[in-house]
Amino acid sequence: MTELPGVPAFGAPRKRLLIRTWGCQMNVYDSGRMAELLSPLGYAATERAEEADMVILNTCHIREKAAEKVFSDLGRLREVKRERTAAGKGMVIAVAGCVAQAEGAEITARAPWVDIVLGPQTYHRLPEMVARASRAAGAVIETEFPAEDKFDHLPEARSAQGVTAFLTIQEGCDKFCAFCVVPYTRGAEFSRPAAAVLAEARRLVALGAREIALLGQNVNAWHGEGPDGTTWNLARLLCALAEIPGLARLRYTTSHPRDMDAALIAAHGAIPALMPFLHLPVQSGSDRVLAAMNRGHRAEDFLRIADALRESRPDIALSSDFIAGHPGETAADHRATLALIERVGFAQAFSFKYSTRPGTPAASLPNQVPETVKDTRLAEIQALLRDQQDAFNRSRVGLTCEVLFTGPGRHPGQVAGRSPWLQPVHLSGSATLTGELRPVRILAAHPNSLSGVIADSEPVPANQPGPTHEETAAA
Ligand code: SAH
Ligand code: SF4
Ligand code: F3S
Repeated sequence: MTELPGVPAFGAPRKRLLIRTWGCQMNVYDSGRMAELLSPLGYAATERAEEADMVILNTCHIREKAAEKVFSDLGRLREVKRERTAAGKGMVIAVAGCVAQAEGAEITARAPWVDIVLGPQTYHRLPEMVARASRAAGAVIETEFPAEDKFDHLPEARSAQGVTAFLTIQEGCDKFCAFCVVPYTRGAEFSRPAAAVLAEARRLVALGAREIALLGQNVNAWHGEGPDGTTWNLARLLCALAEIPGLARLRYTTSHPRDMDAALIAAHGAIPALMPFLHLPVQSGSDRVLAAMNRGHRAEDFLRIADALRESRPDIALSSDFIAGHPGETAADHRATLALIERVGFAQAFSFKYSTRPGTPAASLPNQVPETVKDTRLAEIQALLRDQQDAFNRSRVGLTCEVLFTGPGRHPGQVAGRSPWLQPVHLSGSATLTGELRPVRILAAHPNSLSGVIADSEPVPANQPGPTHEETAAA
């Protein structure tokens, strides 16, 4: 984490803030905003708990393991807080994010050394909560919902996020997939107005962003008020964002197949700044399981969308999420998932063992799948996805593609960036390239990255067409 901007109020002592973030990119965005909110109170970032006057754990509730990590971290922090308190320094501990929303006062019952519990929609009130926590004897718990309030009350984004910036445009979810906690932890779907999004995007570009990733739990369900008073869809918003001078690349995540409408599919072909990569979770290839999951679409709908996207933007690469062993999933359902993966061909994907989340409809479905069966199915899904990712990475070797440089590489003398397909790219070069787009000839593919050489010293215009997935899969 870098030093926070913002000067402490006159005479205020310099304080240290540690934020740990789990979960999705929306939590990463929220952590950045919380740091900005606390910076005027004199809090500067640290990565060491021992020197932190305040620690925020920004948590994720999506799977059991993610949620449990919070309590093991809290156990460790208890000791650090005790030592700091003995030395007369103290420490404010806040639990934020989706575990905070789901468990509320349970957290302070289990870990009474926690001072603040705040949900994802209340963090704009963090400075006031910190003040209350330092006065009050008991914990401060704030887990209400309306996202409108938060965005209305957050100050303008002020700190540079770097070359690639996240921008939350949509919050919450009304889809209620049977397995998922998000509708309960993030609340109802809400879209920020287009003018607010455009203003924040312009500020991020002024602060050095060349790529913006729009975020939302259901980002492609975004439908916000346009500056002209009409309701805009995401395709329209992307068109307007693409006009911002200096903004070279746009992405959006995470999308739902049901909201992948014709205008958005067409936007992939029409907007050069929109990168040829889309994360579109499908979860399963079986219609029976998709119905049990309450996903609201069939496997063939997903295949149709994938084909239409490739028609609109032939070099588009697809990514997805899969769940192995959802309640009721049979061996035939699992084979249908493998068949869908074979048919689509993914450039990368995430896959998870079904994790029972208390309070969700799937938790009480009959026919829960035994753990060992889930393990085997997950391994099969992952082996196939791994092969596809390797083939996709290898298919880039020999191509010249545009790379956006994001910072120094892992080794001295290296610079790192991203391909249009989101692959990390490393090459020998100076970190002064950071923020620039250059054509790079890809020389080698590694499991999770590419390496190459700069093909030309001149910057290139955005969006060179690459090979289609069919061509690359055949390679
Ligand atoms: N809004 C996105 C996903 C949000 S959660 C969508 O609709 O697809 C991110 C991913 O976590 C999901 O796509 C799903 O694959 C996984 N996930 C969610 N709940 C899960 C559970 N109970 N067990 C295992 N994986 C889960
Ligand atoms: Fe969860 Fe489904 Fe909503 Fe995605 S669409 S956040 S998986 S309920
Ligand atoms: Fe996790 Fe909440 Fe994001 S549950 S995935 S942090 S929306």
